Order: sequence, then structure tokens, then C-alpha cells
Amino acid sequence: MAAKILRLFFALWPDEAVRAAVAALAQDVVVETGGRAVAPENIHLTLAFLGEQPARLAAKIDMRSAEAIPAFQLSFDELGCWRNTGIAWVGASAAPTELSSLEQGIARALAALGLEGDDRPFSPHVTLARRIVRPLRRRLITPLVWSIDSFALMESTPAGAGREYRVVRSWPLVNRAS
Ligand code: 2AM
Repeated sequence: MAAKILRLFFALWPDEAVRAAVAALAQDVVVETGGRAVAPENIHLTLAFLGEQPARLAAKIDMRSAEAIPAFQLSFDELGCWRNTGIAWVGASAAPTELSSLEQGIARALAALGLEGDDRPFSPHVTLARRIVRPLRRRLITPLVWSIDSFALMESTPAGAGREYRVVRSWPLVNRAS
């Protein structure tokens, strides 16, 4: 029987308050850019994109090094767009070292399974809108602070005209308060 294949990626997910704030920002941005605002339930930050993989991969991932990273805060304070891909985004002008440690920890865990990372450098961002038709002026905004205490392996499936995401597995970061 053919192995079950899933479209997988690692991501950070916001809590409800941050989700609502980012969704409101996305609505404002599409007024400026046109295109389609990302559905509120799909708002996330991609840490690594794996693409189509056998479902059994999920159970094999050994994330011990990334789990040693302390929980941290991300301050999203910059708007911009990539015109070639038609994406408007919100990003962090100063990303903390924990974010790059997490991204590198995931890359190491994937390399241990023989999976290549993305060729493109890591550009942490939350996509606000797709298929934009006008550019979004790059600028700083009042920071939206996002507390990160876990990360997840997600499955992406088609849903109507868009995509639906589901948590396949998640890992906690170290809670300094405990
Ligand atoms: P994006 O938001 O910038 O489009 C699920 O597809 C997630 O993986 C999206 O957040 C998407 O980023 C990201 N991603 C990174 N590389 C991708 C690729 N080659 N194809 C599809 N999605 C990719």
C-alpha cells in the first residue's frame, strides 16, 4: 500500500488576542494592497517548510535540542511586502536569538533525518494577505507582542479556495517561570 503523504511545515501559532490583532491588521492592509487577507484561523509564522512527506516522518522527529530553548517574546513591528510572490506581511525588525536558535534546532532535527532545509534564508514573517495588487509601503507600526511557549508541526490541506492547517505534533519550549 502507498505510504500516506502529508504536506508539512513547522510553525508558531498566536494566542487568541494576538490572532485577533493580526487579523484586524490584515483587514487594514488589504485596503491598501488589494488581494485576499489570510483567514484569521490560518495566521502563523512558518519556521520551516517540509512539503510533501510520508506521514510516518512526524513520529520520527527528535526535537530535544529545540525543546531546550526558553519561551520568548516576538515583537511584530514592521509591515512590508514581496511583490514577486504577491505577499503582504508583518515581521519583527529585531528578532530575538531564541527565534534563530529554534529555526536552527529544527533544521538540525530535519538534517538528522536526511531532509534538506530551504535554500532561501529564513525571513521570519506572518503573511497578512496573498495575491496583492498594490505594494505595501514598508514601515514600522506599534508592536504586536506575541509570547511563544511552543511550536508545532502542521499539516496543510486544501479547503475550498484556500488551505486548512492542523497540528500534527507540538513541542513546548522551556518555561522560565517553572
Ligand atoms: P507564506 O505564508 O510566506 O506563503 C504553509 O504553506 C506555510 O509554509 C506558509 O506560511 C508558507 O509561507 C510557507 N512556505 C514556505 N515555503 C513554501 C513553499 N515552497 N511552498 C508553500 N508554502 C511555503
